[in-house]
Amino acid sequence: MDIFEKCYGFKEAQAARESGYYPYFIPIEENWGSKVQMKGREVIMCGSNNYLGLAQDPRVQEAAKRAIDKYGTTCSGSRLINGTFALHEELEHRLAGFVGRESALCFTTGYLANLGSISAILGRKEHVLSDRYNHASIVDGIMLSTGLSGGSIKFHRYQHNNPAALEKVLSSLPPDEAKMVVTDGVFSMEGDIVKLPELKQIAEKHNARVYLDEAHALGVIGKTGRGTEEHYGLGNSADLLMGTFSKSFGGIGGFVAGDEVVIDYIKHFARPLIFTASMPPPMIASVMATLEIMETEPKHTLRLQSIAKTMVREFKALGFDVGVAETPIIPLIIGDNEKTFTFWKVLFDNGVYANPVVSPAVPPDRSIIRTSYMAIHTDEELDQVLEICKKAGKQLGII
Ligand SMILES: Cc1ncc(COP(=O)(O)O)c(C=O)c1O
Repeated sequence: MDIFEKCYGFKEAQAARESGYYPYFIPIEENWGSKVQMKGREVIMCGSNNYLGLAQDPRVQEAAKRAIDKYGTTCSGSRLINGTFALHEELEHRLAGFVGRESALCFTTGYLANLGSISAILGRKEHVLSDRYNHASIVDGIMLSTGLSGGSIKFHRYQHNNPAALEKVLSSLPPDEAKMVVTDGVFSMEGDIVKLPELKQIAEKHNARVYLDEAHALGVIGKTGRGTEEHYGLGNSADLLMGTFSKSFGGIGGFVAGDEVVIDYIKHFARPLIFTASMPPPMIASVMATLEIMETEPKHTLRLQSIAKTMVREFKALGFDVGVAETPIIPLIIGDNEKTFTFWKVLFDNGVYANPVVSPAVPPDRSIIRTSYMAIHTDEELDQVLEICKKAGKQLGII
């Protein structure tokens, strides 16, 4: 048996390419922020996580260029040995301040931040409770812990955003065994917000730590864009707070923040920190520039929040099922895979790019078109998006 046999047998992607319904890996040829060029045509980008549009801000781009001139393009090494620059530490210090924690630690991507932090913290025979809709990087972090512990991590998945279901699982566990609840703040596919006040209360009652992934929350929700805790008017509720730079921060990289001793422990045990090269200087500098803008110019977050509100209202008025969307991630719930891909193609052919999402990223029979918005979308662009979605929805009998 040839180990590549499965590759020769994999025909689905090629069949979809040939039929013109293949929506993945489409190269972006030009990027103007709210609009991009794909397949030689200008389309409105409704599938980006550059929520505040700051990847296009000249101040952010300038900061990256200056850092290249000063430090070069890479650190060429791992944080542990030859890849920590003073810039990393400065960014960590400022991020810790931004999220109100003692300490922060940067990773090369958000994915690695989850992989590294979760796998470092979970030890043998310890319990992790994870929302069913959590991002794959959380699940992979748990899997890595499971591998490292010889399979002895106790992994419990609870019903999505359901504090009662979490409580039920926690109540069934031995009170003296160590536990951590892990959840997205804003869920990445459907844009709903975790019920953090209830979750925190239940976790506390059962002596469980809380790990909060704020990838889609920072810069997006809360009065000043400080995420889920601020959205609910809570103080620090998460014991560990994780964020990525690939979304509001307009870059690439990620971080985890919390108490200094805990972060120091993660620093020395996270394999995805130790065995990969660190975030490069232009990225650190551009994230620092973005952070400065986020701290001093709340108008970007406010514009984004206002767009989200309008789009949710307008999609509902058109008759779309948007679930419980309340953030700039607005799913158009279609259900059926084939219809979802057809819907995607009608949108694309009419000048809108959005993301088709099917199982396993969402439960089977809950396929969606994931639309997402940026503070830099103009009102005219948003009107066009609604018009084109209406046309596609009517054509396919969705609305
Ligand atoms: C909730 C969540 N966590 C973590 C990540 C990983 O972040 P990154 O893409 O920056 O590596 C993502 C990315 O899509 C995400 O949606």
